[in-house]
Amino acid sequence: METKIIKIDDKNKQAAIAEAARLIKHGEVVAFPTETVYGLGANGLDATAAHKIYAAKGRPSDNPLILHIDSIKMLAMITERVPMMAMELLAAFSPGPLTIIVKKRSEVPDSITGGLDTVGVRMPDNEIARALIREANTPIAAPSANLSGRPSPTSADMVAADLQGKIPLILDGGASKWGVESTIVDCTGTVPCILRPGAITKEMLEEIFPRVEVDAALISKDAVPKAPGLKYRHYAPQAPVEVAVGKSENVVSFFQDRLTVLQKAGKKVGMLISAESASKLPSEKVTAQFIYGSRKNLPEIAANLYMGLNYFD
Ligand code: TXA
Ligand code: MG
Repeated sequence: METKIIKIDDKNKQAAIAEAARLIKHGEVVAFPTETVYGLGANGLDATAAHKIYAAKGRPSDNPLILHIDSIKMLAMITERVPMMAMELLAAFSPGPLTIIVKKRSEVPDSITGGLDTVGVRMPDNEIARALIREANTPIAAPSANLSGRPSPTSADMVAADLQGKIPLILDGGASKWGVESTIVDCTGTVPCILRPGAITKEMLEEIFPRVEVDAALISKDAVPKAPGLKYRHYAPQAPVEVAVGKSENVVSFFQDRLTVLQKAGKKVGMLISAESASKLPSEKVTAQFIYGSRKNLPEIAANLYMGLNYFD
């Protein structure tokens, strides 16, 4: 299959979105930008169309998809009862990088929710994404537009690197604003519970709710994650990754030690590093480095994280 990539500008925007919406209506898949990461979309109420998403990504069938809506009105197509907690969340953070988990209507195919009786819903804060959903006139099921297991794409080039030849169309809307996924909040219990951390932080949720829970699997390796996707290897570039956590001085000395060992062993080493730590490292030691931002600006670091992993691949 040939993959068409359309770089969207003011002149071609309407026609490009119309073409993508036509494909979605015909049961095809289309990659499109959102404010978090790029999504691989299909008609969320059509099990056959959604199957094409799983096939293109090589995604396990028990890993459910998030449904994307363009308006609160569309929520009624997905769920019958919106808990108060979900309404409050939507009022505060929607459109935006938030996914709520609610009970699904029977019209939402079981194959989209991996057999669960709940469904993830989110209203993206991206003009192209919302126009596409509006024009397709259906909730759009969309996981991140990467091959299963790989880092999520934050640009059309990253989508193409994984899915070229497997899907008919990629809408190129530039770099993703947040660069990490939406925060998933389970609204089926009595207290909101974070199932996947994302652009909206626990602290931001705590400004609205007196109590916010975190899925046990995010804290302990022994618990089974409630978001099925977290069971699988994910965000993995081709090379092995080591993560150093701590004060800048400690990170720098860790890097120096590991660099010496790995370079002696004849390995090529790439370093994804903050501007502060990079300035303390002797530059001649480094084979490749990608400065993902300043320690003082965490949103900047988040926005460049997957881009950096992809750069080393
Ligand atoms: O920012 C995002 O959320 C992006 C953009 C494209 O919207 N989408 C995204 O989708 O990250 P995906 O499929 O890559 O990740 C969705 C995660 C998976 O871990 C999945 O298991 C979980 O959400 N999930 C989906 N439905 C669920 C449900 N009913 N209950 C629990 N977890 C669910
Ligand atoms: Mg994903």
